[in-house]
Amino acid sequence: MAPLRVPGDKSISHRALMLAVLGQGRSRIRGLLRSADVESTATVLRGLGASIPDLASGTIEIAGLGLRGLREPTRPLDCGNSGTTARLMAGIIAGAGLRARLVGDASLSARPMRRVAAPLEAMGARVELPEHGGLPMMVHGGPLHGLTWHSEVASAQVKTAILLAGLVADVPVEVHEPAATRDHTERMLQARGVDVRTEDHTVTLVPRGRLDAGDIDVPGDPSSATFFVGLAAIGAAGDITLANVGINPGRTGAFRVLRRMGVTLRYADELLQGGEPVATVVATGGPLRATVVTPDEVPSLIDELPLIACVAARAAGETRVTGAAELRVKESDRIRAVVSNLRAIGADAEELPDGFVVRGGDGPLRGRVTTHGDHRIAMAFGVLGALAGNAIELDDPSCVAVSYPNFWDDLARVRLR
Ligand code: S3P
Repeated sequence: MAPLRVPGDKSISHRALMLAVLGQGRSRIRGLLRSADVESTATVLRGLGASIPDLASGTIEIAGLGLRGLREPTRPLDCGNSGTTARLMAGIIAGAGLRARLVGDASLSARPMRRVAAPLEAMGARVELPEHGGLPMMVHGGPLHGLTWHSEVASAQVKTAILLAGLVADVPVEVHEPAATRDHTERMLQARGVDVRTEDHTVTLVPRGRLDAGDIDVPGDPSSATFFVGLAAIGAAGDITLANVGINPGRTGAFRVLRRMGVTLRYADELLQGGEPVATVVATGGPLRATVVTPDEVPSLIDELPLIACVAARAAGETRVTGAAELRVKESDRIRAVVSNLRAIGADAEELPDGFVVRGGDGPLRGRVTTHGDHRIAMAFGVLGALAGNAIELDDPSCVAVSYPNFWDDLARVRLR
């Protein structure tokens, strides 16, 4: 079968739009993810005065406004379901010295925003949050000063919000992370002429008052690709070939874990595309065994843990994940959602405060899954549901639109019939 091309990387797509708008001159973006989350970033940037064409139009070209070109919005900026939009844009707005109100849907409004509000306030901005610490978030930017910040959470969104605030305000920043997180921002800024360096878990940015424009080819999203590797893993597809997948080590922890569990994964045609490693990924299933996912692995596979839990339901033995308390504050409480749904379809699973335990089996899994509107819960259980003998119904399959609008079509195309 022809290789499957998963859609563009979500993290890189958000950043590509933001950096194109902040750049000096025209930037072309090829392979941008067209999904509800990326639309949210485009909407927010338009609200700040940027002109962004229809995202459907293949390669898009954006005329940058430069670091000082954004203007104050006249209406609240709607981030939809997208945490990346809310947190990264808070950094940009604060750095630009603007005042803006960020709002979002019910799920996003409940997610923690103090983690970005605190460093931005330490730089001199004022950020108002409701009692529960979520949205709406009112950002009053201002002349910011430089910052050295020790982040308590390993979060690429927090790191990036600080880096972008420093870039736009033209002040140096330094972020210490408890564990290394995805480094797309650093790679993309370096490619556009910014002095960003990483040593151990510390990232330093020294701005120079401008950001060059830059063209980018967005690689396929490894998080989306992982669902198909999972499909091969549980034997619901033959070998699967996925073309043009980003294989940044900060994003491919799930590939390493699935290999341990018995999947054969090969990389072919490796190349560096705009500073990001990309490859064709070929996945072949085999007998699955349980594994232990350790806390140090979590940042590199945080979004893939629902899929790993679903694969673990078909693996011999007990799979244990710890150090993943962050899962509780994603688009849903993913620890609760994964465990309660696995149980609802007849699998053996247990919550831990910071993770879960899944005991695999080979009996049929049947029942109804509650997605909580969470795209990754829907896709992970969709993979399990594609296995012959299983019968899994989802309450809201359409929530995949957040990151992978064509997921169900692609799944139908590659599964064994
Ligand atoms: C993202 C970082 C991660 C990830 C999210 C996208 C990013 O969130 O879960 O899907 O693009 O920087 P945290 O930074 O909250 O861990």
